[in-house]
Amino acid sequence: MLAAVSAGLLPGRILAEEREMLSRQIPASGEMLPTIGLGTYQVFDVTSTPEKIANCREIVDLLLGEGGSVIDTSPMYNRAERVIGDIIAAGSPRQAMFIATKVWTNGKDAGIRQMDASARLMNAEVIDLMQVHNLRDTAIHMATIRDRQEQGTIRYNGLTHYRAGALDKLEAEMKEHQPDFIQINYSLGEREAERRVLPLASDMGIAVLINRPYQSGALFRAVSGRDIPGWATEFAASWGQFFLKFIVSHPAVTCVIPATSKPHHMIDNLEAGFGDLPDARTRGRMAGFMASL
Ligand SMILES: NC(=O)c1ccc[n+]([C@@H]2O[C@H](COP(=O)([O-])OP(=O)(O)OC[C@H]3O[C@@H](n4cnc5c(N)ncnc54)[C@H](OP(=O)(O)O)[C@@H]3O)[C@@H](O)[C@H]2O)c1
Repeated sequence: MLAAVSAGLLPGRILAEEREMLSRQIPASGEMLPTIGLGTYQVFDVTSTPEKIANCREIVDLLLGEGGSVIDTSPMYNRAERVIGDIIAAGSPRQAMFIATKVWTNGKDAGIRQMDASARLMNAEVIDLMQVHNLRDTAIHMATIRDRQEQGTIRYNGLTHYRAGALDKLEAEMKEHQPDFIQINYSLGEREAERRVLPLASDMGIAVLINRPYQSGALFRAVSGRDIPGWATEFAASWGQFFLKFIVSHPAVTCVIPATSKPHHMIDNLEAGFGDLPDARTRGRMAGFMASL
């Protein structure tokens, strides 16, 4: 497979029917979720011109074409939810998507209005995952989300944050609210979640989405001008796959949601959902390598 990559072929496209993306179980239901998803912060905040929608749609269709499904967004990401709605209206199959959005406001009524607007913008009668964004007014919104889970208009609930400094608060709220999902930052540059939150999620049976897997691009800058180490080429054909496979190989992780505005980066990212994963020893080596830079 690696020879095909270096030859410029796209094995993901060629072998798509013969292979299945690595998936992990959502503990709350037993449903399987593919490990590579898509983030939309900034990259899907585009004007709805035909060219820009076509580019975003190509990225989503590549995700779905390889068996991926998770698309993470938020009302905080300006036009991103509307763009997802445009992509669905243009023909990308809603039923193949696992749409994760968030509520990010204060107060019950404002939360209800925001959740309704998200569903409308995305042409989604049912939202797969509704997360409380950055732990803002958690108790109030979790009550609304749980009501909607009973009504069948939301499938799963979740709590998110994106900074290591918020992990203590998240830990307390995980214990208090017992969410179906958490979404946190975790990467080769930010490993704090390994200490308590990832083990706690495993113990409590909480699915885990990982945001900022590339530290919003900083990891690529850290390795700029370098090749991936020879010992890593057995499982990664690019820096993107090196970074993502470190995350996906953590047993508590359910799915990682790298953001991209470029179809060829989506193809690269998707490849991390296939093939061998680093074992514990190799994960240590990867961390040591990054620390040595
Ligand atoms: N809950 C929260 O509070 C929260 C906070 C932050 C993020 N998030 C979620 O997590 C998602 C991911 O985090 P993020 O957007 O901060 O950043 P990220 O995924 O860590 O990094 C995105 C950056 O990496 C680049 N990139 C992507 N794939 C690449 C590849 N294969 N090769 C080279 N460069 C590549 C992208 O540029 P190109 O466009 O050029 O590909 C972009 O600049 C967000 O979009 C959002 O959905 C949630």
